[in-house]
Amino acid sequence: MIKKISICGKGGSGKSVIITLLANAIRKKGYNALVVDTDESNTGLYKMLDFEEAPETLSESFGGRKGITKYWNENRLGDLLSDTMQRKSIFTKNGIGLLSIGKIVDAGGGCACPLNAVVREFLKIYESGETEILLVDTEAGVEHLGRGNEKYVDAIIIVVDPSYESLELAKRAMKLSMNLGIPDERIYIITNKVDDDTNKILMNGLKERGLESNFAGSVKLDAKIREANILGKPIIEYEGCAAQDIEKILNNIMAKK
Ligand SMILES: Nc1ncnc2c1ncn2[C@@H]1O[C@H](COP(=O)(O)OP(=O)(O)OP(=O)(O)O)[C@@H](O)[C@H]1O
Ligand SMILES: [Mg+2]
Repeated sequence: MIKKISICGKGGSGKSVIITLLANAIRKKGYNALVVDTDESNTGLYKMLDFEEAPETLSESFGGRKGITKYWNENRLGDLLSDTMQRKSIFTKNGIGLLSIGKIVDAGGGCACPLNAVVREFLKIYESGETEILLVDTEAGVEHLGRGNEKYVDAIIIVVDPSYESLELAKRAMKLSMNLGIPDERIYIITNKVDDDTNKILMNGLKERGLESNFAGSVKLDAKIREANILGKPIIEYEGCAAQDIEKILNNIMAKK
């Protein structure tokens, strides 16, 4: 069974929305979802998931970037992460876990290398429970793939929104994922924010780039989702058309393995 799934794609393509709807679909199937927020910039995922406040990040609980860098320099990230497990850095609400790796808070605080090293180490050593599926939300673009953060996931979902840039990025993400050793049949492409006509055009775009066999389903442009996200309201319990699309996609993915 697929236990660790990373979701990637162009900025604003809908990665965080899809993670949230997937978490709910997973929960409805009787599994536990653990959402791992590795986006160092955006801070609103906890709201989509209906947590009252942003969870203390793993970075914060270890003295921020400075603290993590110390563990990193001493080659002790493994210790940090087992400590973290004991400190229960995973926050849970209504059967959904949330672990946030860290956010960039200080100007001139330095590069994100230590946080990325934590992500890689975490994905490597974390052992999902019997009925647990890990969903990794990533920063926009493909830098995390270039850094090899996804080396230890079982599957990748690439989110494609209706834009040329998104299709081009999907092609690169596909190549990088395969370079990391993720098998072709475990790389899924989802089109998002589509209507039927738009989806036909996007499907042609996928075909032209040799990506159509990785297509796992499409998610409709859903006004309710857009509205909730403008207002900062949770979407985790949303049952409308985008959520139904995601449930179908989850079934497709789970049926294949
Ligand atoms: N299926 C959908 N229907 C309507 N709006 C959507 C849908 N999916 C995403 N959106 C909207 O698109 C915007 C971006 O979504 P989201 O934050 O999930 O993207 P992202 O890929 O995580 O962005 P980032 O790269 O900044 O992390 C949000 O305003 C959200 O409401
Ligand atoms: Mg996001």
